[in-house]
Amino acid sequence: MHRRNFLLLSIGAASAAALTQCATSQPSTVQSSATSPQIYRSQAGQLSLDLVAQAQTVQLGDRRANLLTYNGQVPGPRLEVRPGDRVQIHFTNQLKQPTNLHYHGLHIPQDGTADNVFLQVHPGERYTYQFEIPANHPAGTFWYHPHVHGQVAKQLFGGLAGLLVVRGELDEISEIQAAQEEFLVFKDFALGAQGNIPAPGHMAYMTGRVGDLLTTNGQLNPQFTLAQGGLLRLRLLNASVSRFLRLSLEAHSFYLMATDGGAIAHPVELETLDLAPGERTEVLIQGIHASGQYRLLNTPFNPAQSMGMGRMHGGSRNARTETVATVRYSGSRSPLAMPEQLIPVELLPEPQITRQFTLNHGAGMVFLINGQAFDPDRVDTTVQLNTTEDWLIQNTGMMAHPFHVHVNKFQVMSRNGQPMPYLAWKDVVSIQPGEQVRLRMQFKDFSGKTVYHCHVLDHEDRGMMGILDIQSADSI
Ligand code: C2O
Ligand code: CU
Ligand code: CU
Repeated sequence: MHRRNFLLLSIGAASAAALTQCATSQPSTVQSSATSPQIYRSQAGQLSLDLVAQAQTVQLGDRRANLLTYNGQVPGPRLEVRPGDRVQIHFTNQLKQPTNLHYHGLHIPQDGTADNVFLQVHPGERYTYQFEIPANHPAGTFWYHPHVHGQVAKQLFGGLAGLLVVRGELDEISEIQAAQEEFLVFKDFALGAQGNIPAPGHMAYMTGRVGDLLTTNGQLNPQFTLAQGGLLRLRLLNASVSRFLRLSLEAHSFYLMATDGGAIAHPVELETLDLAPGERTEVLIQGIHASGQYRLLNTPFNPAQSMGMGRMHGGSRNARTETVATVRYSGSRSPLAMPEQLIPVELLPEPQITRQFTLNHGAGMVFLINGQAFDPDRVDTTVQLNTTEDWLIQNTGMMAHPFHVHVNKFQVMSRNGQPMPYLAWKDVVSIQPGEQVRLRMQFKDFSGKTVYHCHVLDHEDRGMMGILDIQSADSI
């Protein structure tokens, strides 16, 4: 086995090859204002753009902040594609450290110029990512962020993250089409007096770094309007490094319509919505009132804090309910109906294999899966393409770990032996101390090596990641 072949690939040759194909790209659609990000939409089956990772001073809420940005924006530009589209991202690293791009939640190849987390783009270098969105890719809310092991928490906490939306079948349901769509990227920051991000303290390595400036789309408490009788579709992403969110909207229910990997079968009414780092959900909100303003609230919810860890790292500053956005009524219209059917979610077949994973931490603030810290030269889990597996994941540590798998989405079968109330496609599942979660996954379409890890990115950087090798019959 040539284990090193896929690792730390020097991209000199690859990027030179990619550059020869690099035409001047114009954003297909660009909107830019203080409140809306740059948006790049595919046109005629092709999304082509330049993306630059760079340090930049930006306005963050009411502060000037020295952050890490994509194209000078926090959050980064929103990319919108459709199933079957070709994507070409001419990426330039103007940071001082190596970086790369991971396409979180996309079902695309995990090697070559696609979702290759083993590739590094060094400072000053360019690389062209190229891949195709499969024609049968589900519609959903996905995102992109850096993924160089050891740098992920720092670069994400610096601001590097953007939405990647696949529009498809779900978006064509008439009730969904009629709804007003908004995107909410939640992300916390810590800023020193000069607008710089302070170095994380020791406890931050344990609980993950947390900032007291909780932003929504880079703003403090932005406002969204809703008409009486209207329907608001919120696409939510928790792009925080380690903050867990528990959201509620005053005097309204959420109607859950999609999770990480796409739609659920029917809307499910919820009063609160938990979003672990890396998770996405889509909800509908009915305009049931005539007027007024209603706060979207985040209630402190850090499982580590409930374990007594919070006070040790200044948890009190996160321990208050905060307003992350406001929904304001404006106007009225003939009432829009809640959709009854969304997209069926088919139960995955019985697994061929059940594997066990244990999440814990060791001496020296190392985070472990099955007793081992990440080693780029070790394959931890080898599976066969086109098979189904159950992964039984047990958290024997003291902190919650949002477990994430690249490339193939999964279904959560049970939590502590209790079946889930509805089927949903997920790629991140939060596992609290003492809990055991069973997830079911089918490895489809793409062979090769990728990773699974904890999405508290300080935990990932400090070892809580493993390499998954998906083998096809002809690669054995
Ligand atoms: Cu969003 Cu490997 O992660
Ligand atoms: Cu991911
Ligand atoms: Cu963790």
